[in-house]
Amino acid sequence: MTSWEKKPVTIGKDCWIGMGVCILPGVTIGDRVIIGAGSVVVKDIPSDVIAVGNPCRPMKTRSGEKIKPDNPQK
Ligand SMILES: CC(C)(COP(=O)(O)OP(=O)(O)OC[C@H]1O[C@@H](n2cnc3c(N)ncnc32)[C@H](O)[C@@H]1OP(=O)(O)O)[C@@H](O)C(=O)NCCC(=O)NCCS
Repeated sequence: MTSWEKKPVTIGKDCWIGMGVCILPGVTIGDRVIIGAGSVVVKDIPSDVIAVGNPCRPMKTRSGEKIKPDNPQK
């Protein structure tokens, strides 16, 4: 049987969570983050980024610089 742990989700200041986003327990989202519509946020997202996808990863900074995926093989 699955054991369910209660872990809080923390969302920073001035964030915009797109439509239909799923944020898993224990995840922390930094300040001034945009999470793209439909994303599944499985791990922490740093401040000042736009993050998208499943799993959700930062794709660019709020100032528009592209961010390389941490593991392009995945
Ligand atoms: C995240 C978001 C703000 C990005 O907008 P943007 O900066 O204009 O980004 P772009 O449309 O130029 O897309 C850049 C890349 O991210 C991808 N992307 C954008 N949004 C995505 C999403 N939600 N999920 C997965 N990938 C996404 C695009 O496919 C594109 O990929 P590519 O470079 O491989 O072609 C926007 O796509 C979004 O999801 N907005 C939320 C809309 C919403 O929920 N509205 C609710 C009404 S309140």
